[in-house]
Amino acid sequence: MTEAFGRGVRIAGTGRAVPAHVVTNHDLAKIVDTSDEWIAQRTGIRARHKAADHETVFSLGRDALLKALDRAGIKGEELDMIIVASVSGEMLCPSTAARIGEAVGANDAAVFDLAAACSGFLYGMNLADTMIRCGRADRIAIIGVEVLTRLVDWSDRTVSIIFGDGAGAAVLVADPDPRKGCVHQTMHGDGRLWRTLYHPKVPRDVPDNDTANPIRLGYLRMHGREIYKFAVTRFQQAIHEALERTGLKVDEVQHYICHQSNQRIIESAIEKLRLPPERVYVNIDRYGNTSAASIPICLDELFEAGRVESGKPIVLVAFGAGVTWASCVWNT
Ligand code: ACO
Repeated sequence: MTEAFGRGVRIAGTGRAVPAHVVTNHDLAKIVDTSDEWIAQRTGIRARHKAADHETVFSLGRDALLKALDRAGIKGEELDMIIVASVSGEMLCPSTAARIGEAVGANDAAVFDLAAACSGFLYGMNLADTMIRCGRADRIAIIGVEVLTRLVDWSDRTVSIIFGDGAGAAVLVADPDPRKGCVHQTMHGDGRLWRTLYHPKVPRDVPDNDTANPIRLGYLRMHGREIYKFAVTRFQQAIHEALERTGLKVDEVQHYICHQSNQRIIESAIEKLRLPPERVYVNIDRYGNTSAASIPICLDELFEAGRVESGKPIVLVAFGAGVTWASCVWNT
């Protein structure tokens, strides 16, 4: 292990994996009473990927990590830790991280899953940066992966239009330059709002006062408007705080990577904080809301396109079920 103090953290490689099958808004309009116009106007979504039977949280997560390792030039066996951020894994026991560890040959790495919904990848990235910075680890993989389309009632137009499947991964490594990596981070949660988005499996999971619409066990239940209000406020606060704490001006940030939940939520932050729109990355039109996978997929697309410049900060912000929210200012 290298010297613990005075070191930074670098993103050595990123990767993504998405199911081949794409469901467009037009496809959805054949199943439920909706339209491409309504969905695009209210959410910015045009299409989402949907896993086939053989595509799982494990397989998508593994494929994303293999790409990230390849780009990083690091072997699986060199990893000290694998964190899988997901709320839709096939099994609770063992963790998806353990199975992915086996698949990539990381046979003595710490492996665990992290359930913070859409904030999961950022929670993981913040933890990984801290672990590496303080010398407890040298190389950590974080994977954000979801197959939420399996938790969605496709006859419920208020939920089925939102979610998509996919995985994104990043491999973080120690760097001798202490200025690199996370220079500001926050992680929060407010459990009083968990009822706004949950996945009830048996009757006892359903809170007494949630009686608005019929409840279908086994499917995600979402109170969209409440989440929307919460998300708009938290996004703006988190970005404002990140800029204030780091002393960065809005145009000194090379990319704002916000969880892709609804384009209107992202646009409200652009408007309120006067962010340069061309620096706010948006791919929700092609993926929908992929929860924990949303931020690492954005990150991977930016790296792949050669659009991440070294030495310039990125602001990352997420919110999700729980409710949870998190932010990070990352010096590349
Ligand atoms: N197609 C057509 N009409 C629809 C649809 C649809 N798919 N869904 C709802 N409607 C109708 C409603 O029935 C309602 O009709 P009414 O006025 O006659 O009653 C009308 O459209 C407005 O409904 P709202 O629910 O108020 O629509 P809203 O503008 O709030 O949009 C949406 C709904 C898109 C879900 C929005 O609330 C939202 O994006 N919320 C945040 C969701 C989110 O981010 N979830 C995940 C967060 S956590 C995580 O990422 C894991």
